[in-house]
Amino acid sequence: MRKITAGLMLGAGIVVVASGLASAASWDERVFNSEHPHLHFAGIVKEGAAGIKALVARGGVLFSAKFTRADGAGRPDATQAIIPTKRIHGTNPAFSRLSGPDSSACASCHNQPFPGGAGDTVANAFVSEGFESAQFDSTDPTFSNERHTQAIFGDGLVELLGREMTADLQAERESAVKRAWASGKPVSVDLVSKGVRFGSITAKPDGVVDLSQIKGIDNDLIVRPFGRKGVFASIRQFTINALNAHHGMEASERFGARWTGTDDFDGSGVPNAITRGDVSALVAWQATLPPPGVKAHLPADWKAAAAKGVKEFDHLGCALCHVQTLPLKSMLFTDPGPYDTAGTLRAGEVKTPITIDLAKQPYAATLKRNARGEWLIPLFSDLKRHNMVDDQVKALGNEVLAQRFVERDVFMTPRLWGVGSTAPYGHRGNFHTLESIIAAHGGSARFARDAYLAATPQDQQDVIAFLRSLQIIDP
Ligand code: HEC
Ligand code: HEC
Repeated sequence: MRKITAGLMLGAGIVVVASGLASAASWDERVFNSEHPHLHFAGIVKEGAAGIKALVARGGVLFSAKFTRADGAGRPDATQAIIPTKRIHGTNPAFSRLSGPDSSACASCHNQPFPGGAGDTVANAFVSEGFESAQFDSTDPTFSNERHTQAIFGDGLVELLGREMTADLQAERESAVKRAWASGKPVSVDLVSKGVRFGSITAKPDGVVDLSQIKGIDNDLIVRPFGRKGVFASIRQFTINALNAHHGMEASERFGARWTGTDDFDGSGVPNAITRGDVSALVAWQATLPPPGVKAHLPADWKAAAAKGVKEFDHLGCALCHVQTLPLKSMLFTDPGPYDTAGTLRAGEVKTPITIDLAKQPYAATLKRNARGEWLIPLFSDLKRHNMVDDQVKALGNEVLAQRFVERDVFMTPRLWGVGSTAPYGHRGNFHTLESIIAAHGGSARFARDAYLAATPQDQQDVIAFLRSLQIIDP
């Protein structure tokens, strides 16, 4: 009976699923116990607003919680790969800095300046797909892609922007296919959403679509805003990857019996270590984190320089990629989202999704709106991938392994909101100053970098003052 009462404390009755958990002493070290049980997805939905409040709070606890072996941490039999993969030889150690598990909590890396934030280079992750005996020899790029911890603040809004852009681009494709079929002639269209151009497609009368001219996006025209490479569509998908890679906590929606034939694929001894509801708690907390803002109480000289700097940023062409704001039509965040694939819970697999209205978050009042009533999200990104390397400027061209068949020199435009709080910079955090990462922009960003380097020292300093004023604000 005790565990049911505990469930009631969470949020009037979020139904618990792990009936096997022994009742907890108040000093219990486990993250999941009878006082703090696993969550049941359908139960959360039933609870309505109260359930969501409790869900977000629980997500915040889970993000900073240190998972223990009794919770299922560790993956002796499985690798860090996104697709469930068994180790071929030996046992995966409980801790491995490179192949993981590499830490006890999400917030062990995402902690600057607050949980949900970025990390110093000590928190870099080593991303690799397809390793089967995952214990890499070294940090050499032939083994993995080294990545700097990105801040999650505002990511709920970012995911919603990605969803709307995807819907726009896919609608363009559908309409081109219909017109080509009706007219019996090829139809070419520019792929544009929210003012961002993703190249063009040509639909043939037989229904085949020529995708050879698309730019900065995958063939399925899904905008994937997450990760430096821009290859993940949702917070949910990323969270399941992270739980497994960093902590050996395997979510049943990907590693459970449905896809692997067992509820303890990683051999941790704890079946179903993470339920759908637990993932939703982490998603809800991350999706409701406020977007970064502008540092309050700037000294007058900094304020004046930043005001000039934002204009210079525009003038130099930085804002062609780091687009100041993208307009968002709807602030309704649904979990699961519309564009996930098998292995991440999909919309069709639940009766009712969890819906969180981000317009009700306290920060929403600070967002500007355009004449159409759309919310202007000040992210400083186009959510598009760009080539950053050329023959002369190649500091960002260090990668040897392609990730998900995105060209090795191509990266997603990072959101610059909060960049004043997230040094060091670059996809592996090897640039200590803003000036040095700007100077490293090659390839399609070369023109803006050259313009910056040719600007007067005063103009350059104004740009830095502006960038340094964009900070993660204490929620
Ligand atoms: C060992 C350090 C580390 C730990 C622990 C860690 N992360 Fe991350 N996280 C990273 C790095 C590095 C990136 C950037 C990955 C990339 O660019 O491909 C990242 C990116 C993310 C992103 C995408 C952010 C964006 O805007 O693109 C999300 C979401 C995320 N992590 C969630 C989590 C969650 C949830 C946990 C715990 C279950 C977690 N992380 C644990 C290092 C870590
Ligand atoms: C063609 C698109 C493009 C243009 C133009 C561009 N950038 Fe970038 N910017 C990027 C991409 C992509 C990255 C990520 C590079 C990496 O880490 O691999 C980036 C990274 C950055 C970062 C580092 C962010 C971080 O958190 O690591 C800063 C700061 C930045 N750009 C500022 C600028 C400034 C200032 C200008 C104008 C002088 C500019 N950018 C022009 C695409 C662009």
